[in-house]
Amino acid sequence: MSSSTPKAWTATVLTISDSCARGERADLSGPAVAEVLRRRKFSLVGSEIVPDEQPAIEKAMVRCAGESHLVVTTGGTGIAARDFTPEATRRVCGRLLEGVAERMRLEGAKKTPFAALSRGVCGVRGQSLILNLPGSPSAAVESLESVIDLLPHALDLLHGDTKHGEGPPTTG
Ligand code: MTE
Repeated sequence: MSSSTPKAWTATVLTISDSCARGERADLSGPAVAEVLRRRKFSLVGSEIVPDEQPAIEKAMVRCAGESHLVVTTGGTGIAARDFTPEATRRVCGRLLEGVAERMRLEGAKKTPFAALSRGVCGVRGQSLILNLPGSPSAAVESLESVIDLLPHALDLLHGDTKHGEGPPTTG
């Protein structure tokens, strides 16, 4: 697969976690996700920690989608009582890219069956993408790496570059 992102797409990372927001736990996932994005030539324009409150998550997503092409969240995708990230994403996104989330779970399942316990989604808000990753640093990085090659072409399409002839990155 292609290993670079030709255009300077901007990205924001949102760590969704009560304990990180309260300062009780260090945020390891947000920086790990940011590092993958930087390595793949996304331009990081911000990162935030947001508690597991659906209105706060939605508000942060809306703001960040207005300021960056890609909003990557980590955490809150499971079925614990305060896991609301997918609900918030659905609320603020007009369309979902089901295949992207399916691919994360499919690739994750090659390492652990627990990958199926993430309800993360990927959605479109305006000309931005919002991508939910699970909360643990390794799960977040694995999940992002499994779909990151799809994102530049998805963003091209959202920005009106609908040429298919030259082709998106292909596996090989
Ligand atoms: N995906 C991958 N690739 N690797 C993992 O270890 N952990 C799973 C799943 N996705 C995991 C994964 C587990 S145990 C849970 S509970 C869900 O993500 C939800 O995690 P979250 O609530 O922290 O978002």
